[in-house]
Amino acid sequence: MEGFKSFLFFLISSLLLGFALVIFVLVWVLHYSDGLAWDGGNAEFNWHPVLIITGFVFIEGIAIIVYRLPWTWKCSKLLMKFIHAGLHLTAAILVIVAMVAVFDFHNAKHIPNMYSLHSWVGLVVVILFMLQLVVSIVVFLIPITPVSVRAALMPVHVYGGLLLYGGVIGSALMGITEKLIFSLKTPPYSNLPPQAIFVNTLGILIVVFGGLILWIVTRPGWKRPPEPTVKEQSPYRETSGSPPPEYSKTDKSDVELNSEAARKRNLNLDEAGQRSTM
Ligand code: HEM
Ligand code: HEM
Repeated sequence: MEGFKSFLFFLISSLLLGFALVIFVLVWVLHYSDGLAWDGGNAEFNWHPVLIITGFVFIEGIAIIVYRLPWTWKCSKLLMKFIHAGLHLTAAILVIVAMVAVFDFHNAKHIPNMYSLHSWVGLVVVILFMLQLVVSIVVFLIPITPVSVRAALMPVHVYGGLLLYGGVIGSALMGITEKLIFSLKTPPYSNLPPQAIFVNTLGILIVVFGGLILWIVTRPGWKRPPEPTVKEQSPYRETSGSPPPEYSKTDKSDVELNSEAARKRNLNLDEAGQRSTM
């Protein structure tokens, strides 16, 4: 891998920052706010930022860069797809609970639903994220989609994933601002009390974390190398019936994807500045 030291720096920084985000949001709700509970009150609302920042910002960020970890390049692509999909699924489950928490809190307190720009943008992001998850599982995980369709959808998948992640960061910032305006009364937000300084810092850290993730995932030199071709992987395949152990570890759909025809098509995609592995 080129620039391994620089990669390591960005990876360690993003991991440290990711854990810091979770600690910051926990300190916010446990120290400055009413803690965590499922009682229809403010403590129930607090699950909303905690689960969103843990699931949608931190775990989702790691899901996005998981293919970039060079230590995983010797693992089969299929295993990595399961890990990538599993992390997105974990994020999705936390986000669903975060949504239930805020809607339940609003209903218990007779606060209208879906009036703010934050709620509109947030819900659109959540719906598109769930759509991306389902479509990606069908297209990239279940081996029923033709190679040409996978190849055509990969750039859309990556662009959509990054756009959604940008949407997550934006929605989180809007939500944080809103909550500070609503909850800081004496002294008000405009007086910049300690809670405001602390939570504004959390917002800045979210932006920096998102920036690090986007940097890591957009470096061409840190991309998982394409799988070897069928022939490279299994020189014995045409002569003997039994494949060597390495062959059986790989994802058949990837073997198919890396056939000569797919490789040529991938090269064309590369020339267009797009992805070469699916
Ligand atoms: C409400 C989504 C992050 C604070 C909502 C609602 C949605 C939503 C859909 C509407 C609930 C309803 O109308 O009953 C999201 C998404 C987020 C996110 C997708 C992240 C990507 C945050 C964060 C905070 C926050 C980090 C910080 C505390 C709020 C507040 C409300 C709310 C105060 C109630 C007021 C309103 O409806 O706008 N959120 N949220 N949100 N969220 Fe978030
Ligand atoms: C790559 C986002 C779900 C399969 C990527 C990349 C992003 C992304 C940003 C680029 C990674 C890189 O260049 O290193 C998302 C989002 C998802 C999601 C936001 C959920 C909402 C899935 C699922 C699968 C999948 C369920 C099914 C296995 C892939 C594959 C790649 C990829 C095969 C190509 C990896 C490579 O270039 O080697 N995804 N993804 N994704 N994703 Fe997803």
